[in-house]
Amino acid sequence: MRLPGGCSPKCVITIFSRRVLRSYVPVQGRWRCNVAAFMPEAAGFDGVSTRTALQDYSVSNSESFWAAVARQRLSWIKPFTTVQDCDLSQGRIKWFEGGKLNVSVNCLDRHVHTCPERVALIWERDEPGSEVKITYSHLLEMTCRLGNMLRRYGVQKGDCVTIYMPPCPLAVASMLACARIGAAHNVVFAGFSAEALAERIRDAKSSTVITVNQGVRGGKIIKLKKTVDKAVENCPSVQQVFVAARTDNPVTMTPKDFALEEEMMKEDVVCEPAVMDSEDVLFLLYTSGSTGKPKGLVHTQAGYLLYAALTHRYVFNYHDGDVFGCVADIGWITGHSYSVYGPLANGATTVLFESTPIYPNPGRYWEVVQRLKINQFYGAPTAIRLLLKYGDEWVQKYDRSTLKTLGSVGEPINTEAWEWYHRVVGDRRIPVVDTWWQTETGGICITPRPSEPDAEIVPGMAMRPFFGIKPVLMDSEGKVLTSNNTSGALCIAQPWPGMARTIHNNHQRFIETYCQPHPGYFFTGDGAYRSKEGYYQITGRLDDVINVSGHRIGTAEIEDVVNLCSAVAESAVIGYAHDIKGEGVYAFVVLKKEVNTQSADLSKQLNDTVSMKIAKYACPDYIQFVKRLPKTRSGKIMRRVLRKVVERDLNGLGDLSTLDDPAAVQEIIQGHLELC
Ligand code: PRX
Repeated sequence: MRLPGGCSPKCVITIFSRRVLRSYVPVQGRWRCNVAAFMPEAAGFDGVSTRTALQDYSVSNSESFWAAVARQRLSWIKPFTTVQDCDLSQGRIKWFEGGKLNVSVNCLDRHVHTCPERVALIWERDEPGSEVKITYSHLLEMTCRLGNMLRRYGVQKGDCVTIYMPPCPLAVASMLACARIGAAHNVVFAGFSAEALAERIRDAKSSTVITVNQGVRGGKIIKLKKTVDKAVENCPSVQQVFVAARTDNPVTMTPKDFALEEEMMKEDVVCEPAVMDSEDVLFLLYTSGSTGKPKGLVHTQAGYLLYAALTHRYVFNYHDGDVFGCVADIGWITGHSYSVYGPLANGATTVLFESTPIYPNPGRYWEVVQRLKINQFYGAPTAIRLLLKYGDEWVQKYDRSTLKTLGSVGEPINTEAWEWYHRVVGDRRIPVVDTWWQTETGGICITPRPSEPDAEIVPGMAMRPFFGIKPVLMDSEGKVLTSNNTSGALCIAQPWPGMARTIHNNHQRFIETYCQPHPGYFFTGDGAYRSKEGYYQITGRLDDVINVSGHRIGTAEIEDVVNLCSAVAESAVIGYAHDIKGEGVYAFVVLKKEVNTQSADLSKQLNDTVSMKIAKYACPDYIQFVKRLPKTRSGKIMRRVLRKVVERDLNGLGDLSTLDDPAAVQEIIQGHLELC
């Protein structure tokens, strides 16, 4: 039993609540997991009496494990007849077929029956101290009214509704209203530009968009409705836009626009839930790949919900009555799985965070923890890195005694940030879970599970697979690496219920991206190291996807936009290590021959274009104008060389003999030294 720093068993016990300790019994001088108290389903698993045995069982008897969990944790209208029908090599993934259910009933009605007045959502609005609490019965009412409203406006089972809203109760109710009537939702992060939004609306063929008049973040007003207006101009499928009022400021309404609150108040508070098949679509969520346009990953009903709920319960050591604080935006998968679906399926009180970590000051997160009595806090390393620079006093001012688990997500957490999170925020008392997963995986896949007492946590490591997950590392020839203390391409060897099923309108791309690189395995696109002890550490992407402040973006996407500028001949974009953001964006730009200005104006123009076409976070931090890019004789850009230049690792440039024109490298080095 060790914690970071090698604490003794005595020390381990201090991190567990009494409730958790009930899940352990002393056997021969060691704490053993009382497995059935820990996970009731385990009582039915033959020969499973320890945590390790439970983990092994979940992988080697995956069908029996998931069947028991699905029966126990979801409310079914009709039980499923098959547990799974999957073939990873074909990209066929189906779970719990024959089963019928409704996700909104699972997230709302069943809790309304047992605890209607329990708070479902705490909306932590931008202005500190102005939080709004919504009970389960109120959220069900909102959801039903919205479901009825969507039906009245012609939204049918199988349609897809686009939601462009910051985290707020109406956004969650809109997601659940879609689930209630059997429509899919497509939540677009409200930081995306009009063009990025339009692209996603068009791909999803939405007839309906739900938005707010204005967003409020960090004390600033964000004109979201204006962005929607611009997007909708180029989306012929859109018939109606519902506009909620976040602020009192009026916005121009077109004949397609309807006031959301007004329309929903015309509706009944009862809405018949649609009877959905397990494999009907629950939502699309667009994310970046290394090439091409963002892809709409498809998640379905039962498997996704089950996986979000189980990971929420066990990774964070969630128990009834806890207040769960995930500060991610609902526009990302983290917000979907751990602000909305996982917590609500478990009947939790979940926090929706509208603000920023430094508004009105860098103590905001911890003031919120104190005020809302948050038990689990889940955030991104980029924010932790930012906050640690402001000093410990912003944390220590506030009472954090309610905290039981601290989570990290979205990008690697460096040791300094991990240590600070654990030592200062967690008072060395609270375990930090570095959770690895992706939009594609639906929920957390590799993570420490501190609710289990022999669960060592090594700083900065994602540690162990979750129940039912079998990670493998592949070498460059596609062979499975069986030994420890080794690195390779991270794949997952068998399907799990939470995984994405396809890419909307492009199953072939799904197969090519995830199933074909290592036939029979799900390829994650990440590299990982497995330590001597068998623990996993994520080493970063293996493709041209970068991670800026926890936001995923393909370098090719940025290049495509930069290349649209009339002055640009070609460009190469790479990620580089950034103190706060994790990765920054560095663009090498070749101008057309006739353009001889390299002025700041041109940089501004390029930045504005990226911001307009994608989002602000994708804008290059550095733009270096170069005469030519280093290319092989066959014309391929040697990004490896560009990365080494930016890393200032000039000894590591490697073999340049295949370069078409080696002199290009010297020019680039010179230009880089002048720029940075
Ligand atoms: O590279 C990995 C990184 O984020 C990618 C997934 O991004 P996205 O689909 O936007 O989902 C983010 C939230 C789950 C992964 O391929 N990533 C995610 N979590 C970690 C991570 N890298 C290192 N450590 C993590 N804990």
